[in-house]
Amino acid sequence: MPLSDPKWKAARTFGFRSLIVLCFLGGLFTYYKLDIKFVKSDMRARQVRPPVLCVPGDSNCSTEWQHNQPQEAAAVDMEPDTILLIWMWPFGYKFDLNCSDFKIKKCHLTDNKALYDKAHGVLFHHREIHGNLENLPKEPSPWFQKWVWLNMESPANSGPIPEITHLFNLTSTYRLDSNVPVPYGHLEPVTSEDESFKIPAKDKLVCWIVSNWKSHFRRVQFYNELKKHVHIHTYGKAFGSDISDQDYSKIVPTCKFYLSFENSVYKDYITEKLYSPMKLGTVPIVLGTSRQNYEEHIPGDSFIHVDDFSTPKKLADRLLYLDKNNSEYTAYFNWTKKFKVKMTWFGKEHACKTCGYIQKHRVYEYVHDLNKWYWD
Ligand SMILES: *[C@@H]1O[C@H](CO)[C@@H](O)[C@H](O)[C@H]1NC(C)=O
Ligand SMILES: *[C@@H]1O[C@H](CO)[C@@H](O)[C@H](O)[C@H]1NC(C)=O
Ligand SMILES: *[C@@H]1O[C@H](CO)[C@@H](O)[C@H](O)[C@H]1NC(C)=O
Ligand SMILES: *[C@@H]1O[C@H](CO)[C@@H](O)[C@H](O)[C@H]1NC(C)=O
Ligand SMILES: *[C@@H]1O[C@H](CO)[C@@H](O)[C@H](O)[C@H]1NC(C)=O
Repeated sequence: MPLSDPKWKAARTFGFRSLIVLCFLGGLFTYYKLDIKFVKSDMRARQVRPPVLCVPGDSNCSTEWQHNQPQEAAAVDMEPDTILLIWMWPFGYKFDLNCSDFKIKKCHLTDNKALYDKAHGVLFHHREIHGNLENLPKEPSPWFQKWVWLNMESPANSGPIPEITHLFNLTSTYRLDSNVPVPYGHLEPVTSEDESFKIPAKDKLVCWIVSNWKSHFRRVQFYNELKKHVHIHTYGKAFGSDISDQDYSKIVPTCKFYLSFENSVYKDYITEKLYSPMKLGTVPIVLGTSRQNYEEHIPGDSFIHVDDFSTPKKLADRLLYLDKNNSEYTAYFNWTKKFKVKMTWFGKEHACKTCGYIQKHRVYEYVHDLNKWYWD
């Protein structure tokens, strides 16, 4: 299912993988309202990197689908009642068009532009229309058709397009207030079939893998202070070592804590930098949106927030204390008794969920001033 791709290995920067894919499905979530979430990365980095990411080490994360492109880019369920046209493949990467993983039925996803006049929805990925509105359909849309705006980048990592602010009927982003929210990952209940979680063996206290280094990033400033008080094992392009997916999934579990520092701070902007380490059995130290916002996505006792401490030194002291007190450290994994992490399947998950949404909402809808909603 999800994958990581050799192609991007070359380009990858771990700290910023652009996308994550999730492999999963999700239904039952009731306690946490999440559905699913995802990943993002920097625009620059993205040019080369494929949109999907999965957690390194997840055996179900393979890049097969990218290499074995579906013979035919369309899957038709029995008696489809809803057609969703993928106008251009996000980042140019295809995915198979079968929504059965999401338990969504009667959807016909297609990339066949000849179906434009019949499509109930048309999906546009921000990146593919940014800077080139020529890519948009030239013909007027049929009255029943909804245009859907897909973007997983934070506002800082993607620019507004003035011309499109009143163009769309629906949004699908990592934000929970999107019409079709698709976070970079989410928790779902464990079942009796799941293996019980065990904390992996640890030989390092704090680790960080990062590629995108800009001295004005809050995370860089925080790191520079924190490292004065506790040793941090660093990897990634920013430190002169490019880390493969395999290395990532080997290193992260051996760390008691991982710096899940986002490159920009926005509501709900919680990426694979959080979900991958959680999935790999490490306690995330988060820097990004507020603790309260994180707690809308994951249990409050599953992570450490840098804002819980008045100074980086106090955080370092806490980490050094937890290094010595195993019972307190272990309590950060209590969530694993009830939940497991599911990563999001970039593109495919948006398409399937959007189709499912359109099926259930046959009414007139439109996005009032997209640019204001997203960028203000
Ligand atoms: C991978 O998929 C198989 C079959 O769907 C499932 O049994 C297995 O638990 C999955 N493994 C992981 C690591 O998710
Ligand atoms: C979608 O996948 C499911 C399960 O693998 C399969 O049973 C179904 O026939 C597939 N549907 C299409 C249209 O390919
Ligand atoms: C470890 O933490 C527990 C729970 O807070 C506490 O009862 C215990 O005294 C601590 N042990 C040490 C060695 O600090
Ligand atoms: C975590 O789980 C352990 C064992 O089940 C329990 O003793 C402890 O109270 C829990 N800690 C928290 C903070 O809920
Ligand atoms: C979609 O949005 C456009 C532009 O706001 C609007 O003209 C159209 O009626 C909407 N269509 C539907 C089906 O809601």
